[in-house]
Amino acid sequence: MASEKATVDSAKSVTMTDSAGGDSIEMQVLHGTIGPEVVDIRKLYGQTGRFTYDPGFVSTASCESAITYIDGDEGVLLYRGYAIDELADQSDFPEVCYLLLHGELPNKEEKDDFVHNITYHSMLHEQLHRFFLGFRRDAHPMAIMCGVVGALSSFYHDSTDINDERQRMIASHRMIAKMPTIAAMAYKYSIGQPFAYPRNDLTYAEDFLHMMFSVPAEEYKVSPVLARAMDKIFILHADHEQNASTSTVRLAGSSGANPFACIAAGIACLWGPAHGGANEAVLNMLEEIGSVDRIQEYVNKAKDKDDPFRLFGFGHRVYKNHDPRATVLRKSCHEVLDELGVRDEPLLELAMELERIALEDEYFVEKKLYPNVDFYSGIILRAMGIPTSMFTVLFALARTTGWVAQWNEMISDPTQKIGRPRQLYTGATQRSYVPVSDR
Ligand code: SDX
Repeated sequence: MASEKATVDSAKSVTMTDSAGGDSIEMQVLHGTIGPEVVDIRKLYGQTGRFTYDPGFVSTASCESAITYIDGDEGVLLYRGYAIDELADQSDFPEVCYLLLHGELPNKEEKDDFVHNITYHSMLHEQLHRFFLGFRRDAHPMAIMCGVVGALSSFYHDSTDINDERQRMIASHRMIAKMPTIAAMAYKYSIGQPFAYPRNDLTYAEDFLHMMFSVPAEEYKVSPVLARAMDKIFILHADHEQNASTSTVRLAGSSGANPFACIAAGIACLWGPAHGGANEAVLNMLEEIGSVDRIQEYVNKAKDKDDPFRLFGFGHRVYKNHDPRATVLRKSCHEVLDELGVRDEPLLELAMELERIALEDEYFVEKKLYPNVDFYSGIILRAMGIPTSMFTVLFALARTTGWVAQWNEMISDPTQKIGRPRQLYTGATQRSYVPVSDR
């Protein structure tokens, strides 16, 4: 069913009454196609002089969107209405990119055109190659991604006018097409190997693996197993409603900033270990735990209120059931390891035992903490030869499609305005300046 615009349900409203002064304000209830209704509080401050208060936006809908739907209680994730496990099993990443950007699955001609556009935007301006040389060889690749992506606007001026729909789409295609090239270059730079140029005869996932692992000294044959696993990982990470980094991209875009700057802001936000940086943190945590007999020690640390340690890869703001992406990734883990002939991956055994112990523990059950998308992804990536420091880079590579789709949706929304939240002020009241001689 194509998405319908949110509608004001005139039959429904909520009334807020001030217990002190008795004043009341009636607010409309809006409903979308599926999911929770919202209370339209836009007139609250104007009529009451009061703000709502919701640190972390736990109960706040920041926008209307038709792109991705999550039912956290049921563990459901839909991209434009299609279930994530169906897309992961039956679609491919370029097709999912088209779906997220345009709202419908492409027919053959539309898909061929889109793939051609992405393929022929995958090269990077040659001068950008020198940009990498400014970084230390041991720079974290996410630092390089923030810097290089932010600099793209200085090379692609002809797609920075956000009011021109054609330029917006060119910028979107450029971002989706160039992220694998930039990501692979960040990796090559970190290991002192020459950059590999994109190849137009390879698929998106094949080309990324080629740019990551090929060397001039010999021909690189892309493994179809790895390419399929890579493509599936990209699909699973492509979008996820109004998560922290997507909200960052929307907020940056609401000021009219150019699309490359907005995506760079999203990359910076995704880097945090509470968000996209968790996949790297999961691998580091599993390696620190080291053996099954130390799992309980770490589970106890995670439960200890006085210990800031949390089990990375567990818990989610929205999912209070299994993250459907983790379910697909757990299955893929076994498939990829089997197909790679990796018989006993100790980290996988450790991860599965950690999941079993945690899911039987009252603390995790009561707080509805399940493995999230980051819990298994790193094990597959490591088995594919991707270094841990590149895990969040791959998350950013895939999420770029969701970011540009959400950015386009926001920019083309006629009701869109600059995002500018207020605050509950608890600082000093006005006071007079005191010269330093009198302090
Ligand atoms: C991603 O938003 C998205 O959609 C993100 C994402 C996407 O695709 O964009 O899905 C990708 O970021 C996945 C999440 C990756 N992060 C981690 O794995 C880091 C570990 N997880 C936590 O830091 C935490 O679960 C969050 C950040 C993911 C969610 O935090 P919330 O929603 O703010 O929940 P909370 O911190 O209020 O936790 C609720 C309770 C707390 O206990 P109480 O204070 O109520 O007693 O659960 C506890 C927390 O202490 N808790 C954990 C825990 N996660 C939450 N305790 C131990 N280990 C954990 N992992």
